Amino acid sequence: MDTAVLSTGIADRPTELQSLPINPSIVDPLWWRSAVIYQIYIRSFADGNGDGTGDLAGVRSRLGYLRDLGVDALWFTPWYASPLADGGYDVEDYKTIHPSFGDLAEAEALIREALALGIRTIIDVVPNHTSAEDPWFKAALASPPGSPERERFWFRPGKGENGDEMPNHWVSNFSGDTWTRTTNPDGTPGEWYLHLFTPEQPDLNWNHPDVKAMFEDVLRFWFDRGVAGVRIDSAALLVKDPDLPEVPEDIEPGQHPNTDRDELHDIYRSWREIADSYQGARILVGEIWLPDSERFAKYLRPDEMHTAFNFDFMARPWDARELRESIDSMLAAHAPVGAPSTWVLSNHDVTRPVTRYGRADTSFAFATKRFNTPTDLALGLRRSRAAALLSAALPGSLYVYQGDELGLPEAESIPVEVLQDPMYFRSDGVDPGRDGCRVPLPWSGTRPPYGFEPDGSASAPWLPQPDDWAGLTVAAEAGDSASMLSLYRTALSIRRSHPALGDGTLTWVDAQDGVLSFTRGLGFQSVTNLSDVPVELPPHVRLLLSSTPLENGLLPSDSTAWLRTQH
Ligand code: NOJ
Repeated sequence: MDTAVLSTGIADRPTELQSLPINPSIVDPLWWRSAVIYQIYIRSFADGNGDGTGDLAGVRSRLGYLRDLGVDALWFTPWYASPLADGGYDVEDYKTIHPSFGDLAEAEALIREALALGIRTIIDVVPNHTSAEDPWFKAALASPPGSPERERFWFRPGKGENGDEMPNHWVSNFSGDTWTRTTNPDGTPGEWYLHLFTPEQPDLNWNHPDVKAMFEDVLRFWFDRGVAGVRIDSAALLVKDPDLPEVPEDIEPGQHPNTDRDELHDIYRSWREIADSYQGARILVGEIWLPDSERFAKYLRPDEMHTAFNFDFMARPWDARELRESIDSMLAAHAPVGAPSTWVLSNHDVTRPVTRYGRADTSFAFATKRFNTPTDLALGLRRSRAAALLSAALPGSLYVYQGDELGLPEAESIPVEVLQDPMYFRSDGVDPGRDGCRVPLPWSGTRPPYGFEPDGSASAPWLPQPDDWAGLTVAAEAGDSASMLSLYRTALSIRRSHPALGDGTLTWVDAQDGVLSFTRGLGFQSVTNLSDVPVELPPHVRLLLSSTPLENGLLPSDSTAWLRTQH
């Protein structure tokens, strides 16, 4: 038997699934270059047991939905044992599933069942930091300064006469301090420890061999269970200058004391060796926020990661010149290393596109998020539809964050008393945080919980859903050919069957100001009109799909059309 087929698990297809169509990319070793990857924020996808929190049982019961949507892989945000101080990005134990989500046997079953439908699984690992409940960290706190237990983290004495000043003034990604002072067993103030995020997420010391060995073991543990890839959280932050100096004002690339240090590349080379030692293409996907696209691309050299999230495109405003510049510069940065670009419109950290594109400032930046920002949701939805087709037509792989296929807006009516995100608390309530894009999905019905949990469940969803989402449920949209869900289903089906889409190159076609027009191979052209006026479409034999109906044959503003240009 073909080993590629064997390694996908298709040979193990349960009989009840035998008759379902197989996703052709499942036997393709280069699947990841063109894949559509659907991000599951498990707490909010579907609740199988009625406790108000999404879980593995919920995902298993909705695999048919994901197959019909036409995705090639699922990326799960962390599903491990965790105090959930940062939504699971504070991992206590990688080999145990959080009890609210299920257990390891269920995760294994889910991986198998998804694969049997032609859908791969990507898990999340968080190597920059751990959880304050991690036994290593507890042992470190219980051990004296200078002890081997503390060397796996960054413990330092404070500065100043009584050691009550922080060891340095690094800025947290979550606002607030990056150091927390410990208390000695006798109650006196002790050393400080470093956390680039919350105090519940102590940073690991990647110069320590135990840390390296632990993550290599985690990779093997999950690859052994059939996962097809690993998303690497905060991938450019792991390595620190051991002297922990202040961040200089003028800084050469690679010289930052905690970001994008050259030593990182050896870590990812060793991870790549592990991934490559498994059958089937097991991939590494980096979460890398770096302004310098050449430095970014270094992580994608052939012996490092396979792909990384393209946040530049995601953060750009809805403006033709800006988007084109981003597309060109990201494709140019990827070309020398031979890696495909990714296209990402949102994730569990950023404002939903429907909301973002409906604002005066359509770009994304963590620092500028505020409550009560005026928003035109109808405009935002229209642009999101256009952006969905634009990004799905670009060369490379595509990420879809759960709920974007329904056109969910950011939920902005969550009472502040129930907000959970540390970004809100650590900004003293100035930043609304990320809960608004993490609200449980609406599946059916006209009122919360909209089928998110079984009928009659005693617990409400862990975050409240807005009252006006009846028209945004899967059930409502599935029967409406004009819905966002129908647009996504059609687009992903065209994308899967069209040989020119996915990996490859694009060729820009001259167009008037405010219009992005490009061909993909022979016969396919995408046109996005970001100008204020309707535009004529170029010559074509058939309109394959448009995000807004044409008006008198013209493509209205804030719309994308996909065209077949040859027979
Ligand atoms: C990036 C993750 O996407 C985000 O949700 C998390 O809070 C930080 N990394 C810290 O792990």
